[in-house]
Amino acid sequence: MGDNVILVGFMGAGKSSVGRLLARRMGRCFVETDDMITAREGRSIPEIFADRGEAHFRALEEEAVRLLALKSGDVIATGGGLFCRDGRPEALRALGTVVWLSGDFDVLYERARRMGERPMLAGRTRDEVAAIYRAREPFYRQADLTVDTTGRTTDQVVAQILLALEPRLSLSPLGRGQGEARRREGCG
Ligand code: S3P
Repeated sequence: MGDNVILVGFMGAGKSSVGRLLARRMGRCFVETDDMITAREGRSIPEIFADRGEAHFRALEEEAVRLLALKSGDVIATGGGLFCRDGRPEALRALGTVVWLSGDFDVLYERARRMGERPMLAGRTRDEVAAIYRAREPFYRQADLTVDTTGRTTDQVVAQILLALEPRLSLSPLGRGQGEARRREGCG
């Protein structure tokens, strides 16, 4: 198994902010699949959805998953739908420890609506988004670890993840202080 830490979960779960802080605490590099995609395409996620449609975005996610195989020792935040395709849980678990940032749907929905421009929410009612959540949940459940974000700050979520990862990290070379050295060598 790879030694990355991979964050999955619905929009609004805080994957980006938690991932950035977790990487800093662990002395690891931070990668976001949405950033890999926007860098490759030279335009934002909403622009990709508007210009080429969701199917094209999902194809770009497929390519991002292939590129993730080159990563080692990184903290990786995935887009909310990336983990929810047949074969993805297996593919991502082979690359490291998958952590599901779970949470109460209404809290996630409100947070997702407030922050950032999210094409999956545009033109959909709350019930339609809830149906997407329900369809995705069985995938998220296939993560190695689950950390509930409801009522927790970013700091508290990171602390929970570190606690949950501890038994696994003590077995890996990166858990024995090599993460910082790796980060000094340069991320990206
Ligand atoms: C998506 C979630 C977004 C982004 C894209 C599609 C989804 O990422 O990948 O807009 O299908 O849930 P976040 O989960 O970071 O919002």
